[in-house]
Amino acid sequence: MMKVLAAVAALTALTQANLDVVTLNVNGDNYITEASATLVLGKAPNPQGSGDAALWSAIMMENQASFLQGVTQNSAQSYWCTSILPTQWCNFAYTLVGSQATVGKPAVASPGSKIRTSYKLNSSTKLWDQNVYIDGNLVSTVNTSKGQHGKIFYISLECASGTCAAVGAHSWENVTIILDKADLKFKHSGSWQYGAIGGEMTTPDNGKTWKLSTLSIPQTIPQ
Ligand SMILES: *[C@@H]1O[C@H](CO)[C@@H](O)[C@H](O)[C@H]1NC(C)=O
Ligand SMILES: *[C@@H]1O[C@H](CO)[C@@H](O)[C@H](O)[C@H]1NC(C)=O
Ligand SMILES: *[C@@H]1O[C@H](CO)[C@@H](O)[C@H](O)[C@H]1NC(C)=O
Repeated sequence: MMKVLAAVAALTALTQANLDVVTLNVNGDNYITEASATLVLGKAPNPQGSGDAALWSAIMMENQASFLQGVTQNSAQSYWCTSILPTQWCNFAYTLVGSQATVGKPAVASPGSKIRTSYKLNSSTKLWDQNVYIDGNLVSTVNTSKGQHGKIFYISLECASGTCAAVGAHSWENVTIILDKADLKFKHSGSWQYGAIGGEMTTPDNGKTWKLSTLSIPQTIPQ
């Protein structure tokens, strides 16, 4: 039981140190209405460490009201995917509201698979729909965070509840972030953190929709 609680609590970016490769803050009262990012899985840690290695994209809501996180994790004992090989990854939609987690159905995937998470403020329900797809098939979904405004978009690595060995080189593609109002100052120039290559930002509509070119992250020990 302790391990379960520790593992769940550990996925919070609110209190843990992560390696945030991409951090994109909106300016002023602007907010994120939608985002989508596809992780192309690399090799899982081998040997596995004692910790929970996780790769994720995420949106932090205003006033840290909630944290929407499409999680891909690997650990010696996965609390979420009970039937998984050490070489595979466990994927699920996850939202933290305060210390309360809402977790979507977990699904196993192997290196080379494409894990897309979409986050969208549903204009009819006013809920955020978070959907996780493996190679185009919807596997995990949660809806939370009614009426909240997205303030920060992240792409990160994390090691929770122990120490982690290096995760293989991996990449993020088809990353899109849509803002409520156009803002050309949303653009990040220059390189991203932790040796990542690419991720150049462009906008097809003068600052409302933003795309990142493929972002390649080298083999890294998550922290
Ligand atoms: C909004 O949510 C409703 C109810 O879950 C769903 O049927 C609809 O497809 C959603 N709209 C969009 C644009 O995703
Ligand atoms: C939101 O998720 C809950 C629990 O999974 C589900 O019962 C409900 O139908 C969903 N609501 C909408 C509007 O999608
Ligand atoms: C790329 O992302 C968009 C949403 O931003 C999605 O509609 C599309 O299916 C994605 N393409 C692939 C190849 O996953």
